[in-house]
Amino acid sequence: MPTIRVKLHKAGYPIVVGSNQATRLRSLIEARKSIQRLFVFYDAQLYALHSDYMRAAFKGWETLEFVLPRGERTKSQTTLGRLHDFLLTASISRSDFILACGGGVTTDVVGFAAATVLRGVSWGAVPSTLLGMVDAAIGGKTGINSPQGKNLIGAFWQPSFVLCDTRLLKTLPRRQMVAGLGEVAKYGGIEGEALLEPLSRLLSKDDLYDERLLARIIFRSAAAKARIVTSDERDMGVRMLLNLGHTFAHGIEKAAGYGRILHGEAVIIGLLAAWELSVLTGARETSKMTAYRSIIEQLLRHIPYRRVELDAVWHAMALDKKRQERKLRFVLLSRPGRAFLCDTVEVRAAKKALDRSLRRYAETGGTDAKNTGRQRPKP
Ligand SMILES: NC(=O)c1ccc[n+]([C@@H]2O[C@H](COP(=O)([O-])OP(=O)(O)OC[C@H]3O[C@@H](n4cnc5c(N)ncnc54)[C@H](O)[C@@H]3O)[C@@H](O)[C@H]2O)c1
Ligand SMILES: [Zn+2]
Repeated sequence: MPTIRVKLHKAGYPIVVGSNQATRLRSLIEARKSIQRLFVFYDAQLYALHSDYMRAAFKGWETLEFVLPRGERTKSQTTLGRLHDFLLTASISRSDFILACGGGVTTDVVGFAAATVLRGVSWGAVPSTLLGMVDAAIGGKTGINSPQGKNLIGAFWQPSFVLCDTRLLKTLPRRQMVAGLGEVAKYGGIEGEALLEPLSRLLSKDDLYDERLLARIIFRSAAAKARIVTSDERDMGVRMLLNLGHTFAHGIEKAAGYGRILHGEAVIIGLLAAWELSVLTGARETSKMTAYRSIIEQLLRHIPYRRVELDAVWHAMALDKKRQERKLRFVLLSRPGRAFLCDTVEVRAAKKALDRSLRRYAETGGTDAKNTGRQRPKP
C-alpha cells in the first residue's frame, strides 16, 4: 500500500497502512534521528492483547510505558494531569518522542498531552480501532472532554506519522468494527465509488475482518480525510463535508443516551437520514444512489436495536425550537461522490427524513447484530 503524504502549511507527515507493520513502525521512529527516549502510551485492552508484538519495534531505545484505562472517561482533566506528571517526573525533553497506541480516546488525550507538555513534544499515532485509523488519528485535532461537553478542550497538534496496522484490528470487537465502517460509509458518500466498491465487497463477505479489503478501505478513507483536512487545516470550510450524517447522528446519540449507541452506529442511522433528506430535496434516485442506500442499510442491520424516539432526537438536535419557516443547514448528496453544504433545508423535510430513517432502523436494526447482548423485542 503506498504511503499517504499529508501536506500541511508548516510540515507534512506520512500515513502508513498495511498488515504486520512492526518493522515499519521501527523505521518511522528511526527516521527521526535525534530521538533519545520513547514514551509509549497504550490503551489497556491493546496493551493486554498486543504489547508483546508492538514492543519488538522499540528494541534498542530506552522505553517508558504507560497504560491508559479504556473508555471515554479517560479523556479527562484527571488523566491529562496524570500524563503530564508521568512525563515531567521522567524529565521529558524535546528530543524524546511520544507514541499513542490505541483508539480515538488514546490518540486524542495523548496527542493533547504531547501538544501541551513543554509547549509541544513530537508524537506518533498508532491507531488500533477502525475509527481511529480512518478518522480520529488523522487531522491533528487532539483534546479531552470537560463537564460542559465533549472535546471542548484541545489543540491542533499534528503527529510525525500515523501508522495503521490492520493486524491490530483482528481483536477489535465486532460492534466497534461496524461503528468504524459507519465513518467509512460517510467517506463513501463524499468520495463515491473508490470507497464504496471495497466497502460493498467487504459487506457482501461473511468476514468483516478481511485484512486486504480493510487495508484498501482504510487507505482510501484516510487519504480522503487527509486531503480534506489539508485543504482546510483549521476547520473552516470543506471540512464541513465530513459532517455528512452527523447532525442527525449527534441527536441520535444524545437521545439514546450516550454509550447506548456508539457514535459510528449513530452515524449509520444519520447517513440514512441524510440520504432521505437528499432525495426529499431533489437528488435523483439513480442506481448509484440506490446502491449507496443499500450499503447503509446493510450496516444498519449490524447495529443493535435500541429504542430511539423521533421527538427525543429532534429535541436533542435543538431543532424543536426553530420555527417552521426557518431554514436549516445540512450536508447533502446530489449523488455519491458529490456532497455539498445546503443552507436552505426546510424544517419539515429534515424531520421527515429523520422519521424515515428511524423507522427503518426500528424495522431492521439488530437483524445481523451478533453478541450485542440485546434481542429485538417481539412485534
Ligand atoms: N481527533 C479527532 O479528529 C477525532 C475524530 C473522531 C473521533 N474522535 C474521538 O475518538 C474517540 C472514539 O474513538 P474509538 O471509537 O477508537 O474509541 P476507543 O478509543 O474508546 O476504543 C474503543 C474500544 O476498543 C478497544 N480497543 C482498541 N483497540 C483495540 C484492539 N486492537 N483490539 C481490541 N480492542 C481494542 C478499546 O479498549 C475500547 O474499549 C472519541 O472520544 C471521539 O471523540 C476524535
Ligand atoms: Zn463521526
